[in-house]
Amino acid sequence: MSFQTILTDLHEHILTLTINRPDKLNALNQTVIDDLSQAIDEIYNDPEIKAAIITGAGPKAFVAGADISEFLSLDSKGGKALAQKGQENVFDKIENAPKPIVAAVNGFALGGGCELAMACHFRLASENAKFGQPEVNLGLVPGYGGTQRLAQLIGKGKAMELTLSGNMIDANEAYRLGLINHISAPENLLTETRKILDVIIGKAPLALAAAISLINHAAYRKENGLQKEIEAFGKLFDTDDAKEGAKAFLEKRKANFMGK
Ligand code: COA
Repeated sequence: MSFQTILTDLHEHILTLTINRPDKLNALNQTVIDDLSQAIDEIYNDPEIKAAIITGAGPKAFVAGADISEFLSLDSKGGKALAQKGQENVFDKIENAPKPIVAAVNGFALGGGCELAMACHFRLASENAKFGQPEVNLGLVPGYGGTQRLAQLIGKGKAMELTLSGNMIDANEAYRLGLINHISAPENLLTETRKILDVIIGKAPLALAAAISLINHAAYRKENGLQKEIEAFGKLFDTDDAKEGAKAFLEKRKANFMGK
C-alpha cells in the first residue's frame, strides 16, 4: 500500500492513515480523495486490518478543508460532481465501514477536515485542535456531509450557529458539545487513540460491524431501527464468535474471536 499523499502504517492490526500535505495544511485535493478512497478499500478488504486511525501530518493541521485552489475552475456541474465523488468514495465509505475508523484530530479540522473527522466513527483531538465549517466565508455550504453529520452530533441549534457563522471552536468547546470524545496532549494523541482501539479490536468483528451499521441507522433516523436490531441480534447467534463469547464467559477466560 503506497500513496502519493497519504502515509500508511499497519501495526498490530491497526492501520494509521496520515494525510501528508503539511505545507498545505493537509487540504483535500483530488489526489488525496483518490488515495483515501483506495486506502479505505484496503481497510474493508484486508483481514489483517481490524481498525484504522485517520490523522494529519505535522503539528498544525488535521485537514484545513477541501483544497480551495481547485475551486475556481468549477461550475455547478463540477461542484456537484466534486461533492458526490467525495461523499461516495470517501466520507460515506468511512461511515459505513464494517471496522472502526477513528479520527485523531491533531490541529485544524475545518470544512472538509471537520467533515472527515465527523465521517469517522468517533473522534479524539489534541488540545490545539480547532473545528469549524467556514464554507460560508467562500460563498458555499459544506459539501462532504457536514450539514447532516454536524446536526446529528451536536444538535440542530449548535450546528446552525457554527455553520452560519463560520466560526471556529477549540477542543474544549468541541468536547463540551459532544463533537469529540476525548482531548489529549498533542504528543499523546496517537497513543491514546490506539489504546481505545486496542480494546475494541479484541471484540467480535461481526458484532462490531453490526453495531456500527445499527448506530448509523439510528443517526439517520431511518425506519424500523428496533426491528433491524432484533434481526441483527438474532443473526449473530449463528456465528461461531457468539458461541465462543458465551463459552469463554462461562469458562472464565478471555474470548478468542475469529470473525466467523
Ligand atoms: N485549501 C488550499 N490551501 C490551503 C487550505 C485549503 N483549504 N488551507 C490552507 N492552505 C494553504 C495556504 O494557502 C498556505 O499555502 P501557501 O504557504 O502556499 O500560501 C498554507 O496552506 C498554510 O496556510 P496559511 O493560511 O498560511 O496558515 P495560517 O496559520 O495563517 O492559517 C488557517 C491557517 C487554517 C486559518 C487558514 O489556512 C485557512 O483559513 N484555511 C482555509 C480554511 C477553509 O476555509 N477551509 C474550508 C474549505 S471549503
